Amino acid sequence: MIPSPRNRAGKPRHFLQLGDLSREELLQLLDRAVALKAGSLGRDRPLDGVTLALIFRKSSTRTRVSFEVGIHQLGGHGVFLSDRDSQLGRGEPIPDTARVLSGYVNGIMVRTFGQDEVEELAANASVPVINGLTDRYHPCQLLADLLTIREAFDVRPSGWEALSVAWVGDGNNMANSWLNAARVLGFELRLAVPEGFDPHAATLARARESEAMGSGRIVLTRDPAEAVAGAHVVTTDVWASMGQEDEADDRTEAFRPFQVNAELFDRARAEAIFLHCLPAHRGEEVTAEVIDGPRSRVFQESENRLHAQKALLLQLLAP
Ligand code: CP
Ligand code: NVA
Repeated sequence: MIPSPRNRAGKPRHFLQLGDLSREELLQLLDRAVALKAGSLGRDRPLDGVTLALIFRKSSTRTRVSFEVGIHQLGGHGVFLSDRDSQLGRGEPIPDTARVLSGYVNGIMVRTFGQDEVEELAANASVPVINGLTDRYHPCQLLADLLTIREAFDVRPSGWEALSVAWVGDGNNMANSWLNAARVLGFELRLAVPEGFDPHAATLARARESEAMGSGRIVLTRDPAEAVAGAHVVTTDVWASMGQEDEADDRTEAFRPFQVNAELFDRARAEAIFLHCLPAHRGEEVTAEVIDGPRSRVFQESENRLHAQKALLLQLLAP
């Protein structure tokens, strides 16, 4: 079995939410992602012989392909598992799955519903576990988003504090992850969220605690115009996430005033960029004019999933 950091340190290093990385580690990871993207790192197959299990209990295009391609490019191998064709889908307990997979692979990426499932998997695995999206968080997406911001603005190394990000829409897994990012890097995050759809209370409270200690600035408003005014980055997500399909009609009503359209986006800075984790619904949370416009960076952002996750895999799995 290829040794991984867990073997030396005794306990595996997990990535279950963005705050699992310190500011220093996160900045270092972004540096590595830039080097990987430029082709100046990772050509010597640093993860030769390393295997990553990829558990998907929800659909995916970007996460699956970027992880499979990323591990392959680093010399390792990915094993895809879905509910449809694994025993997990037939009710095998998560702790048993964690222990079984730990005997075969060097790391486990998991996309599922509850954050508690990812935590249970990590608690019972002896290899690193990576959160590839839960209902609570989507930390891998944030790595790509921060890389895209770094490419657009001069934020290195201490300029993150001068950045202002506007989140418009649902207080969902992406909004919660932005709160964690603002806490770790200390930028301003203004969230415009309709009443009843606020972010996860404990995640918000933790970001506010950091704000009180002088790191980051969090504004929660019901007014999209207030959130977007003067922002460097405007970002949103679907109104009904995976698992919320039944609520789609009610949500459409509540979220209609929160659409990112040209009129709203024009309130941001002239050099502002638009981000969206994708998949997007044009005409709902964002208009085609914005997402397909000159200041949208969504396809650079989706490509950056690959580079950022390769940096993460090196950080967690390199022997
Ligand atoms: N942004 C994202 O995670 O996309 P997928 O659902 O396609 O993986
Ligand atoms: N909030 C969305 C993100 C998809 C990448 C969802 O959870 O479905």
